[in-house]
Amino acid sequence: MISTRDRIVVLTGAGVSAESGLGTFRDKDGLWTKYDLNEVATPEGYARNPAFVQGFYNARRANLRDAAHNAAHAALAELQGAMGDRLTLVTQNVDDLHEQAGSRDVIHMHGQLMRALCGGCGHRWDAPEDMQPHHPCPSCAAPAGRPDVVWFGEIPYHMDQITDAITGCDLFVAIGTSGNVYPAAGFAAMARDIGAVTLELNLEPSDVATDFVASRYGPASEIVPAWVAEVLAR
Ligand code: OAD
Repeated sequence: MISTRDRIVVLTGAGVSAESGLGTFRDKDGLWTKYDLNEVATPEGYARNPAFVQGFYNARRANLRDAAHNAAHAALAELQGAMGDRLTLVTQNVDDLHEQAGSRDVIHMHGQLMRALCGGCGHRWDAPEDMQPHHPCPSCAAPAGRPDVVWFGEIPYHMDQITDAITGCDLFVAIGTSGNVYPAAGFAAMARDIGAVTLELNLEPSDVATDFVASRYGPASEIVPAWVAEVLAR
């Protein structure tokens, strides 16, 4: 039975932040039902209409400023407090609600909404509230500022670190993610193949539900604190 003495990798997705008022992508009313991801989440879409794309991320940044972390984020921060670096927290989310809840060293594989990236020199800085196309980079002055988020067709961040953590873990847990987007959707199979236990915590079975040996379904704000309490009690 898994305890805080084991090594755990947690992967979170939009479902962990849904009850904080941040929309998911693929649920009914999800962001990708209202926006064409090819227009707002690809380098080609940005090249076609940078003002529209910057406006999309400015609005998401404004939503995030009004959002607060929920009980699922808080429970994961508590678990990390008990486990230290035996817990690796990887998120596909570009929000900072894990950090707001007290988690540290969160691996943001799809980048961060509150950060800006220079498309020229790679410099990163805190995103201004209202980012505009061709915002000058504070380091090299190139008019190449963009949100520091990973778009479709780009390579997710920190993949070596994530792969090392998964191939060394005893338990892999996916929380609030549809299993739709690779490479993250392949992490459960990777963990299973090295003999780790795999657990899915989600509102409903994900697209890769068969890669998990155990699953619990319900709202993250309920099932995540309940699971964390069990691990802490062992
Ligand atoms: P999705 O919108 O694809 O999936 C969200 C998952 O959360 C679904 O399986 C829902 O059933 C579940 N869910 C919804 N509400 C929940 C709740 N209250 N408690 C628990 N689960 C809940 O979001 P992601 O899987 O995170 O990438 O999407 C993956 C990536 O696709 C995102 O990081 C983003 C997106 O395009 C990029 O933009 C690169």
